[in-house]
Amino acid sequence: MDYLEIEGGYILQGKVNISGAKNAALPLLALSLLAKNSFELYNLPEVADITTFGKLLTMLGATVTSNNYGHRSINTSSIHSTKAIYDIVRKMRASILVLGPLLSRFGHCEVSLPGGCAIGARPVDLHIQAMRKLGADIEVRGGYIIAHARDGLQGADIVFDKITVTGTSNVVMAAALAKGKTRIINAAKEPEVVQICEVLQQAGVHIEGIGTSEIEIIGSDREIIEFKPIRVIPDRIEAGTYLCAGAITNSHIMLVNIIEEHVESMNIKLREIGFDMQYQYDCNNICTLELFPATQPLKACRITTTEYPGFPTDMQAQFMALSTQCEGASFIKETLFENRFMHVNELQRLGANITIDGNIAQINGKTELIGAEVMATDLRASSALVLAALVAKGVSKIHRIYHLDRGYERLEEKLNLLGARVKRLNK
Ligand code: EPZ
Repeated sequence: MDYLEIEGGYILQGKVNISGAKNAALPLLALSLLAKNSFELYNLPEVADITTFGKLLTMLGATVTSNNYGHRSINTSSIHSTKAIYDIVRKMRASILVLGPLLSRFGHCEVSLPGGCAIGARPVDLHIQAMRKLGADIEVRGGYIIAHARDGLQGADIVFDKITVTGTSNVVMAAALAKGKTRIINAAKEPEVVQICEVLQQAGVHIEGIGTSEIEIIGSDREIIEFKPIRVIPDRIEAGTYLCAGAITNSHIMLVNIIEEHVESMNIKLREIGFDMQYQYDCNNICTLELFPATQPLKACRITTTEYPGFPTDMQAQFMALSTQCEGASFIKETLFENRFMHVNELQRLGANITIDGNIAQINGKTELIGAEVMATDLRASSALVLAALVAKGVSKIHRIYHLDRGYERLEEKLNLLGARVKRLNK
C-alpha cells in the first residue's frame, strides 16, 4: 500500500500549473451520453476518479479513447447497457451523474445507490425526486435506482429543498433531452455546474439563468446533441490547496491557470490571515496568481462553509491545517456535511490544538507541529494532512493515500517541483 513520506520545514518557491477540475470533468464525462457525435474533452485531470468514470462509460458500451495526456474522445453511439453497477458506483459516488443522461436519452436505467462516504450519508433523494418530477417512474429496490420514462422525460418546475451540485447537473442534463421547458429553482451556482450549462448552450440547447439559482432549459425532445470540443475549467480546489501549501510554509509561489472569481472566497480569507496576492494575465489571457510570504504573524480567522460563491466545503480541511499556524483562536463551521471533521484527529496527532463543538471546530494557534504517522480518511482531509506535514518538524508518513489519488494530479511531483521533500513509498 502506497504512503507518502514528507520531511517538513522547507520553504517553497516557483510555479505550479493547476490542472483541469475533477468536479467539472466528471459531469462532462456523463454529458457525453447525450452526444450525437464523438465527444472531445481536453484538459482532464489524470486522476483515479476520471479513470473510474471512463471505465463506467466503457461498461455501458461507449468507446473511450485518449490521444494524449488529459484528452478523451468518447463515442456513445454503441451504448448497449444502462446499468451502473454497485462495484463501480461504490468506488465513485459521482457515478450518480449518469442517471439523468441515461434516463433522458434511453428512457430507462438502473443506477446503484452510491451509499454514504466518510464525510456523511450523502443521500441522493433530491436527484430521485427531481427525475420523478420530470415524469420518470422510479423504484428503489435491491440497492438500485430503477428508473423508466418510456415516452421520454417531460419538462417541469423543479424546486431543490437543498442546493445540490451534482443534483443540479443531473437535472440540467436530463432536461436537455426532455420535452418542453424545465425550470430549476434553488439551483447550484458552482463553476462546475456553470460549465455543463455553457457547453450545452454552445451546442444549441436553450438555457437561461446560467450561474444563477434559477435555470431554465428548453429540451430537445430526445434529439441527441452535437457538441463542440470542450476544455475543462481549472480546478479551483486544487488551486486553493496549493495556495494553502504556500501559505502554511510562508512561501512565495505562483499558481498558473486560475480563474479569479473561482478562488476569490478563499483569497479573501488568506488576506484576512495576512497574505498578499496578485493576479497577472499573459498575452494568451492565462491568469497567474502570485502569493507573497506574510511579513507579520498570521492572524486567526472565522470560516463558515457554504455553497458557491461562499467559502467552499472542499477547502475546509486545508484551511484548518493552515489555522494551526495562526496566532489565536480560529473557528471553522462546516454547514454542508455532517461528518467532515475526520482530519481533526489526524491533525491532533501532528500536535494541532483543535476542539470540536458540534459542527464548529476551534483551532488554537500558533502550534509547532511535529512529524508523525497519520491516516487519510477522505480526499480533502488527506490534502490537509499533506499541508500540515509540509510545516511539521521532522518526517511525517501519510497512509491510505488512494484518497489523494482520486482528485490530485501528480501531487508529490508538483510539490517537489516547488521545493518540498515528498516521497511516495510502498510497504
Ligand atoms: C459535490 O458533491 C462535490 N463532488 C463535492 O466534492 C462537494 O463537497 C459538494 O458538491 C459540495 O460542494 C462532485 O462534484 C463530484 P451536494 P455532491 O449534492 O453534489 C445534501 C470533493 O472533495 N444532499 O451539493 O454530492 C448532501 O448530503 C467532493 O471533490 C441531499 O440531502 O454534493 C449535502 O449535505 C467531496 N440529498 C448537501 O446536500 C441529495 O439528493 C450538498 O451536497 C443530494 C445532496
